[in-house]
Amino acid sequence: MTVLKFPQGFTWGTATASYQIEGAAQEDGRGVSIWDTFAHTPSKIVNGDSGDVACNHYHLTKQDIQLMKALNVNAYRFSIAWPRIFPQGRGVLNEVGLDFYSRLVDDLLEAGITPYVTLYHWDLPQSLQDEGGWLRRGIADDFVAYADTVSQALGDRVKHWITFNEPWCIAWLGYMIGVHAPGLTSDTPRQALAATHHLYLAHGMSVPVLRRNSPDAQVGITLNFSPAEPATTKPDDQEATITYDGWYNRWYLDPLYRKEYPADMLALYHAYLPDIQPGDMETIAAPLDFLGVNYYSRAVIKATGEPMLPFQQTHPEGEYTEMDWEVYPLGLYNLLKRLHSDYNPPAIYITENGAAFKDVLTPDGKVHDERRIVYFEGHLEKVQHAINDGVPVKGYFAWSLMDNFEWAEGYTKRFGLYYVDYETQKRYLKDSGAYYASVVAAN
Ligand code: FCB
Repeated sequence: MTVLKFPQGFTWGTATASYQIEGAAQEDGRGVSIWDTFAHTPSKIVNGDSGDVACNHYHLTKQDIQLMKALNVNAYRFSIAWPRIFPQGRGVLNEVGLDFYSRLVDDLLEAGITPYVTLYHWDLPQSLQDEGGWLRRGIADDFVAYADTVSQALGDRVKHWITFNEPWCIAWLGYMIGVHAPGLTSDTPRQALAATHHLYLAHGMSVPVLRRNSPDAQVGITLNFSPAEPATTKPDDQEATITYDGWYNRWYLDPLYRKEYPADMLALYHAYLPDIQPGDMETIAAPLDFLGVNYYSRAVIKATGEPMLPFQQTHPEGEYTEMDWEVYPLGLYNLLKRLHSDYNPPAIYITENGAAFKDVLTPDGKVHDERRIVYFEGHLEKVQHAINDGVPVKGYFAWSLMDNFEWAEGYTKRFGLYYVDYETQKRYLKDSGAYYASVVAAN
């Protein structure tokens, strides 16, 4: 095993998201979210699963904090369920919902664990979806009001804020491909581009509000990346790779760091662009303290010859996880170097990285997940390498603390450092969890 050495003060954590772990979907005044609706629509989720109960974290919070302590981590990234705060999306505040998170924050701090709060990890109040969701420009005001309320209540204690998790997924999986809530589909990118623009407005408008309510806070956003490489040296594959990168990565980076959507993609999408009003790009580009990076795999691209969708992902030889995502640690190194040289964010946190493998709980309550250990070790080595090469990576959050509701895949995909027996709600430390705890302890 390689010895991993990280800088003094490095942040070590695990990450989760509200709908994936909380359960208690109808308790204490929580409103309905688009994921409740989507999960209860037949055939959307594998096995008809839903987050109704999930890991029952809502009732097992104290115990779950002990699980974190056993991993030696000093940070925890979780998200807030908007419909627990405003059951109807806006208007009447549900104090009980706010109290739940306030207690969670207190308990974390008492345990010596720094909270990293994501405001939006996909569970939009259904009533806002009924008005158009992210397709409606005015939703930005609703998000700001929600962010304002949450940061007024928690901003004295929470000093790390992530506005959105994975805008690309929200827009494209939710509004064009339809495999995530709200499950809308389309033949054109118009809806996905509008959703992106409006959520980016919401992001940019909320940044000063978070800073006002949470003095000295660090504010950022989490993007998902798919670093792309051409399948061959053929010019059309190379060009398709640039377009794929524009679609997946640059469309999200350039507005934040360059106040513009990328020119090549604006040309491609010219017939489907959202209404970009004067001042929008300045709002969106509000300076951030850090960039959150979610990395799972790379994409190897070949050309298709289709004008609107000129790229296609290939399936190179290699090792794949249960998600059918290639295990490719070098992609993380390349991504970090590229983000540093092309966009230069003042700080980077790896806000998610991890793998789903087939886990077997042995009769003595163990999970020997050697492949996940190799996955983490390989990626941590690359993070260390990037830091040594000058990339300001300040922390790493393993996805995930425990197995949970993996969106359209339901409970069939396990990413946890802890194995969850959903029948009994018992958690079991996997070998990879013990490995992670030892890395953190050594650093
Ligand atoms: C990311 C999501 C996270 C989790 C992982 C596996 O796209 O942010 O909630 O599902 O994938």
